[in-house]
Amino acid sequence: MKTLVTIIGAGPAGMLLSEILARQKIDSIVVERQSRDYVKSRIRAGVLEQTTVDVLRENGLADRLDSEGHVHDGMKIVWAGKESFFIDVKKHVDKQFVAYGQTSIQEDLFAAANRRDARIVFNAEDVKLHDVQSKKPSVSFFSNGERVSIETDFIAGCDGFHGVSRQAIPHDVLKEYEKVYPFGWLGILTERPPLPDIVYANHPRGFALASMRSPTLSRYYIQVPLDAQLVEWTDERFWEELRSRFPPEMARAIVEGPSIEKSIAPLRSYVAEPMSYGSLFLAGDSAHIVPPTGAKGLNLAVSDVFYLSRALTSFYKTGNEALLDEYSATALRRVWHSVRTSWYLTNLLHRFPTANQFDQKAQEYELEFLRSSASAQAALAEQYAGLPLEELK
Ligand code: APR
Ligand code: PHB
Repeated sequence: MKTLVTIIGAGPAGMLLSEILARQKIDSIVVERQSRDYVKSRIRAGVLEQTTVDVLRENGLADRLDSEGHVHDGMKIVWAGKESFFIDVKKHVDKQFVAYGQTSIQEDLFAAANRRDARIVFNAEDVKLHDVQSKKPSVSFFSNGERVSIETDFIAGCDGFHGVSRQAIPHDVLKEYEKVYPFGWLGILTERPPLPDIVYANHPRGFALASMRSPTLSRYYIQVPLDAQLVEWTDERFWEELRSRFPPEMARAIVEGPSIEKSIAPLRSYVAEPMSYGSLFLAGDSAHIVPPTGAKGLNLAVSDVFYLSRALTSFYKTGNEALLDEYSATALRRVWHSVRTSWYLTNLLHRFPTANQFDQKAQEYELEFLRSSASAQAALAEQYAGLPLEELK
């Protein structure tokens, strides 16, 4: 097989890249390890920055998002014994964000790919990258028991944190930055109306979050110890624990229902540098992971893909490699801002088992400062909304 860009991974990063390239008449093949149904069914975060919505809209991918997404002006923060306060993103930075699940985005991307008859290989086994340092790289894999090889100009590694692409960068070139947090998030999805706002709660029993997917679908999370097991968490126990972490009036407003999905995810911050090597370019979770606090993961995947598709388009239109050379540095500037924001919010809102009384006081005063200072709220609003994409000079 032969194509200009071989994209490894059919998650949001890979599928969005193939869509944007197709709109620029740049041929690509997507190679995915899992089945289409498996990829479609993954439940992930669901808050889109305005920049993300803009990129999707510019590429004809926002029809359903525009009709079903729930637009928000800001989010609430509460902590035990205090009044809640609202971080008004609209007021401070004149941006909004949209609650719309990654599951729906994945469906929209597959629907768009179907319409253009995109080349996607599902169930590809033992995917390997070859000669990535050269200008003639290739990708091979097993499909239906046969090894298939794709000759290509470029490889886009969009295969998530556990993918193979990042491993193709030599150890002495790749620098990894990592922070693992001493807790996880237990999340549930239920077919009940959500609270009107996204609410982040800091409570002595641990962090909690009220979020949503649609007017009839709510998403809630609670901080749990790293060794928590799903079997220990019946729905009943979850609801009781969730309510205990919100102030009484919010707790009463939470509408309980049976969980239709329940999972535990550990929290980690991770960045790999550089995000490119030879003919290989990483985008999305393959290059970086953020803890879910602030919902930056999908938004970063979209900004990476925006920069990478712009660089590839520029190369194919003009032969100029400058934007490809700058891709890693450009993408990393936005990545590090969001990595820092999600680390900050994680520290602000969770109860760390390792915290001493000093740490606890410092966290409370940070929250108090945020509650009482308009400039602190404006700074958080700016970070929560996400930085603008860098324009070409
Ligand atoms: N070969 C081919 N495909 C692979 C391989 C491999 N060796 N390893 C992983 N994949 C596939 C996965 O099955 C998955 O479908 O790559 C895809 C990666 O998708 P995601 O993990 O969703 O990553 P990405 O597209 O970067 O999206 C980032 O996902 O984790 C969330 O918070 C994150 O919302 C963000 C988004
Ligand atoms: C979600 O809806 O899944 C969500 C919302 C906000 C976050 C994280 C996750 O900060």
